[in-house]
Amino acid sequence: MSIDKILERARQGAELSAGELVELLSITDKDELQALYDCAYFFKEQYVGKIAYFRGIIECSNLCIKDCYYCGIRRSNTKVERFQMDEDEIVREALWTHEAEYGSCVIQSGERQDEQYIAMIERVVGRIKEATKGELGITLSLGEQTEETYRRWKKAGASRYLLRIETTNPELYAKIHPADHSLDVRKECLAALRRTDYQVGTGVMMGLPGQTMEDLANDILFLKQIDIDMVGMGPYIPHGDTPMGQVVPPYTDEQKKQALTLGLKMIAVTRIVLKDINIAAATALQALEYTGREQGLRCGANVIMPNVTETDYRPKYQLYDNKPCTDENSSMCRGCLSGRIKGIGETVGFNERGDSPHFRKRTGE
Ligand code: 5AD
Ligand code: FES
Repeated sequence: MSIDKILERARQGAELSAGELVELLSITDKDELQALYDCAYFFKEQYVGKIAYFRGIIECSNLCIKDCYYCGIRRSNTKVERFQMDEDEIVREALWTHEAEYGSCVIQSGERQDEQYIAMIERVVGRIKEATKGELGITLSLGEQTEETYRRWKKAGASRYLLRIETTNPELYAKIHPADHSLDVRKECLAALRRTDYQVGTGVMMGLPGQTMEDLANDILFLKQIDIDMVGMGPYIPHGDTPMGQVVPPYTDEQKKQALTLGLKMIAVTRIVLKDINIAAATALQALEYTGREQGLRCGANVIMPNVTETDYRPKYQLYDNKPCTDENSSMCRGCLSGRIKGIGETVGFNERGDSPHFRKRTGE
């Protein structure tokens, strides 16, 4: 079927098949790409509006018990200088986020499952909630935990959780992780988060070595199947001090362009299929091209996560090479991103939580 016909079917409300998603993800023609992005923007305007929501991301520690083959802060990377913010620092950055009128903050770190850490996060979440009178949305992105831990953090005041599935293809998952990292555990964590009443976000990396368009189409269908509220996905970018980065050489300009286009296509197709969810334009898009994140918004994303981490720590949280904004401070990123969003004719949802409409619909909240 022609691309025009598939997009027309989508606009008329048809459910697209896996085969049709593969066709959309395989587009290379410039006009067809534009038609895909326009269709995604049509759904974005209709379901979530032309508003970009800011979530200030606090990267509070790069200590990690995991050893994913792609990630720059993996346990075995001895070149990383490890850091852990103390409670006051994390709270201070969350309060900066609130004062900057971002509706939400995201607390992210490498994975730790010890009680000392769990209790520290619990206290931090409680303090942020109290200091902002519950106004600031608190999202956590702290990896795999027990249902009990998710419950404690939720009770303390967190309302959203991000945990990427990375890829839903079991063979590919096994290739990019050590044997003791499990796709089933990841899925079970997502189910536990759902049971615990979080707004749940997940996502994948695209452009992984060996990954096919069929894999990516199945990833999108998985997001639909588990009825996800938020999606954060981004292009895989090699990090030189990782096992995968040592095999995949740094991207050429041509490869960067291709990786960016694939990232944008995934956002667009995800918007077309899932419609009323929140979709983040990943920072990794900007590592490939300076305007990558705005392009993400033009293709269907409606959330941006400006970095609010203290500048000194930023270079130590390099998940991939050439991560942007490592020399900038939080005010610079606020001004820079706000201006760029205005430039594409959208407004920033300052002081708004920007909950996922999908979450509101399914819970009646
Ligand atoms: N390239 C792109 N994204 C990466 N992540 C980790 N390493 C990389 C990389 N090399 C992503 C993973 C993880 C998120 C926090 O960062 O998807 O879930
Ligand atoms: Fe950080 Fe532009 S977004 S400097």
